[in-house]
Amino acid sequence: MEALVIQGGKRLNGEVAVSGAKNAVLPILAATMVQGGVYRIHNCPEISDVALAGEILESLGCRVERRGKTLRIDSRDATGTAIPAALMGKMRASVLFLGALLSRFGCASMTMPGGCPLGRRPIDLHLDALARLGASVVLWEGEILCDAPQLHGAAIELQFPSVGATENVLLAAMGCQGTVVLQNAAREPEIVDLIGFLQSMGAEISGAGTDTLTIRGGAPLRGTTYTVMPDRIEAATFLCACAGCGGEICLLGADGRHLTPVLDTLAAAGCELCWSQESITLRRLGPLKAVGEIETAPYPGFPTDVQAPMMAALLRARGSTRFSETVFERRFAHVPQLRRFGAEIELVGSAALVRGVSALRPATVTGTDLRAAAAMVVAALQAPGESYVFGINHLIRGYDNLDEKLRSLGAAVGVAAGKNTTGNFPAHGV
Ligand code: UD1
Repeated sequence: MEALVIQGGKRLNGEVAVSGAKNAVLPILAATMVQGGVYRIHNCPEISDVALAGEILESLGCRVERRGKTLRIDSRDATGTAIPAALMGKMRASVLFLGALLSRFGCASMTMPGGCPLGRRPIDLHLDALARLGASVVLWEGEILCDAPQLHGAAIELQFPSVGATENVLLAAMGCQGTVVLQNAAREPEIVDLIGFLQSMGAEISGAGTDTLTIRGGAPLRGTTYTVMPDRIEAATFLCACAGCGGEICLLGADGRHLTPVLDTLAAAGCELCWSQESITLRRLGPLKAVGEIETAPYPGFPTDVQAPMMAALLRARGSTRFSETVFERRFAHVPQLRRFGAEIELVGSAALVRGVSALRPATVTGTDLRAAAAMVVAALQAPGESYVFGINHLIRGYDNLDEKLRSLGAAVGVAAGKNTTGNFPAHGV
């Protein structure tokens, strides 16, 4: 088992380029199955979730090649409609192939998707919406079997603006006869990016970025070339790291418009920020102040994916900050681990109250999901001395070259091999 070994207590300074967005590239890769064609996707992050999506595409009969940050996908000869359970279990976004396969072949079968353990994470909204489009959906011994000889248009209102359900409806709607109107749709920038990709294939969709999407099904589609948007959650993680450690960093390629509540929170905590559509600069010289209340919400609210890294950033902020999680039912797995650094955090129902402490101490911790692991890194960077962060398997799902990027900002981060979460092992690269 590998760990990141971090010598914390250093300020971060310098420039780093933000990678393509994990949550945008995954639905885009699923969308390449909607229509047989040749696709060139630029700015693909080198993360394990993208590699896994490539394996799923190959299992369906696509040819997938990577050259640097560009993926070339040829889905012309793909005929598969079933996704192997071993691949489904590793990633939540694998469920997006449901809409794509239904759209192209009129049938799909797969097991329940895996992903970060953040509570129950049902897919009822996906399945109900697909049924409204004319699919028959059967759940049988852990398998999802969908059949739809001809999908049709419909007016659908989601009970909650689920990101994945919105994406699955968009993908399935490509193969519908008639018009699909989706109300209470998710408005995340990654959805807008998926819509941009589908439009570049020839799709007719209006309302991108609003809560009502209108999709004319059956428009002729073709292969395309597309560049994935920058990863706003990766950008936010670096901002949290610099806010916690102090220093000045510039994130090249980051789009500040996508992160308004995060930037407002960091400004309220005492950071100086300067941003545009192409970069974000954060400077933190003085002490951090607590910000009172942070409540996660669907876009354009405070992103649930930044809740854990922001908590780690504010562990030493003067005063108290209350984090309320409203999107996922169990998303505080990082709290007991953050306490190992000496953090004072009290859990009260679906909220966590952080009381700022004057200093953190190094610790050996485990990130139990992707963003929890990112929070461990943000905390370890602030703690003078040597910390070990296990859970690299989660980090590489969503962060492209995290250790290298942090080193380029002056952090002392290396990778060490070890046997357990308490062992001592020689550190490399620190
Ligand atoms: C996506 C993101 C994830 C992010 C989340 C919320 C990807 C690959 N992942 O996940 O990083 O944290 O959006 O911004 O893009 N729900 C149901 N039934 C459903 C679907 C969802 O009850 O059928 C619930 C979920 O359990 C959760 C909430 O709705 O409590 C939000 O889920 P959703 O917006 O669907 O998130 P994901 O698409 O899974």
